[in-house]
Amino acid sequence: MPRVFVTGSADGLGRLAAQTLLAHGHDVVLHVRNGDRLDAVRDLVQRGAAVVVGDLSDSEQTRGIARDVNALGRMDAVIHNAGVYTGTQVMPVNIIAPYLLTALIDPPQRLVYLSSGSHYSGRPSLASVDWSGRQAGSYSDSKLFVTTLAAAIARLWPDVFSNAVDPGWVPTRMGGPGAPDDLRLGHLTQEWLATSDDPGPCKTRLTAATTDKRESAPLRANPHDGKEGVIGSSPIEGFAKSLLIRSLC
Ligand SMILES: NC(=O)c1ccc[n+]([C@@H]2O[C@H](COP(=O)([O-])OP(=O)(O)OC[C@H]3O[C@@H](n4cnc5c(N)ncnc54)[C@H](OP(=O)(O)O)[C@@H]3O)[C@@H](O)[C@H]2O)c1
Repeated sequence: MPRVFVTGSADGLGRLAAQTLLAHGHDVVLHVRNGDRLDAVRDLVQRGAAVVVGDLSDSEQTRGIARDVNALGRMDAVIHNAGVYTGTQVMPVNIIAPYLLTALIDPPQRLVYLSSGSHYSGRPSLASVDWSGRQAGSYSDSKLFVTTLAAAIARLWPDVFSNAVDPGWVPTRMGGPGAPDDLRLGHLTQEWLATSDDPGPCKTRLTAATTDKRESAPLRANPHDGKEGVIGSSPIEGFAKSLLIRSLC
């Protein structure tokens, strides 16, 4: 059974994905920000999940998470799920931590990054980004960058299946109680990309996957599927917005 590490699994989509994977018999490694949050995953640990602890807004703690994950043995998949919507932690948590963990965790066969539809309004410029986390970061920019990271990894590590997922707007703490999309479908694609032996995840790279509410299908390739041209107005934007939505099946 695949072994999957899920960041930010104390709550929301990360916890739901971890819970479902565990229920399907997979080995799951959970992640919480500090010792106080261990209570939130106690039931999952009692069902056999391992857990690592560390604050993703702190680069030293993030490096510690990578060390602890590697000490548990090689993962088959990592779901880079943790995220914040506003404030100074946006860049550290949403893009620096996934970047560091990708670099430092022994490469798994599959990588799944949580993006968002708001990456379409991200600015493709690195010039004014405060990587230190002293200034509030733009959520849209962070999701454009993490989507770009997924594409870059797919290119650099051809043996690794690297995907970015837009989970829809779903009713978690981040999404809010009025979010219109189906919560179950908000984590289905991540689970599928991380573990399924269907031809889809095995033959697909550089895909921005999202759930299809009408069909209850786990993956819907972006409508731009197959187009490789520059969609945006600059190379980085075009790179993220075109390559990430291209299925190589
Ligand atoms: N919900 C939506 O509608 C939606 C839409 C598009 C994309 N997304 C993306 O989906 C992912 C999951 O979102 P969600 O809705 O499940 O959010 P959520 O309910 O707010 O859960 C976020 C998780 O990330 C963890 N986390 C945040 N900052 C952390 C830090 N500094 N160190 C360690 N853990 C940290 C949280 O831990 P604590 O519980 O301890 O705070 C929590 O477990 C995010 O990347 C988000 O951007 C969500």
